[in-house]
Amino acid sequence: MADLEGVKIAKDYHVDVPFANNEPFYVKGANNLDWGMKKHLSNIFNKKSGNTVMFAFDHGYFMGSTAGLERLDLVIPKLLPNIDVLMGTRGALRTCVDPANGKGIALRATSGSSMLNEDLSHEVLAVDIEDAIRMNADCLAIQTFIGADGQLSSLENLSKAVNLGQRYSIPVMGVVAVGKQMERTPRFFKLATRILAELGANIIKTYYCEDFEEVVAACPVPIVVAGGKKLPEEEALTLAYNSIKGGAKGLDMGRNIFQSTHAVEMSAAIRKIVHEGYTDKEAYEFFQDAINK
Ligand code: 5RP
Repeated sequence: MADLEGVKIAKDYHVDVPFANNEPFYVKGANNLDWGMKKHLSNIFNKKSGNTVMFAFDHGYFMGSTAGLERLDLVIPKLLPNIDVLMGTRGALRTCVDPANGKGIALRATSGSSMLNEDLSHEVLAVDIEDAIRMNADCLAIQTFIGADGQLSSLENLSKAVNLGQRYSIPVMGVVAVGKQMERTPRFFKLATRILAELGANIIKTYYCEDFEEVVAACPVPIVVAGGKKLPEEEALTLAYNSIKGGAKGLDMGRNIFQSTHAVEMSAAIRKIVHEGYTDKEAYEFFQDAINK
């Protein structure tokens, strides 16, 4: 505690100035959450743009080592300047990522699948809340399988995570999986995103689709768009631009960054769209200039 020497008597009460900390919180649907939840959300979503660039490298949780992620310890450090959030498993983070990375953490918390399965829709809530707290996770990423055989168990996982997340002030990101039997239609994405938000997810990760604005409008929490399979860089930047234009509050890209021959420049170009209002054309020009330097 401060020493008592030279204590000055309080006198500046600014009685004519209204209480300053009265602004609504800037993340969609978060206004009634606890301070700690909002702090975590502010580690994910930039207060100025309201958006986020998540780098997804959690593919190993069911794919093992995948092209571009053979050496996480080499891939991640060079991308850090251009991303806001690291999305990975606790195993990858603890073994391969410097804890002094200064980024938000989206912790992949479900598991149980592998590429050897035909049906990938049965997972368990694998990370307990205490380890999520130890990892200083800013959200728990929970895979859900709406319309698949594993729907019930995946929504049970989500609800358990929301119960624990509310108890310990850690947001939950509901991840909408798209399996072979789930078509990527506006109808499906409106259904899936809204169900997850109704069950208490604080962030939804899903895919871009036609009428995306309607999916966003019907979802009371922020949507972050997954990149999906590797596209030519120009197309991936158009996907990013259309997502942000359509109301997404960020991108969660993996393969379109780590499988790019110019991952650093690609992550920088995505950042331009997400935080600086670049169009896809402007971002692609930026990307081309960067790789031709
Ligand atoms: C992997 C995931 C990824 O986080 C998500 O799909 C984003 O990665 P990509 O842009 O490569 O699709 O859930 O299981």
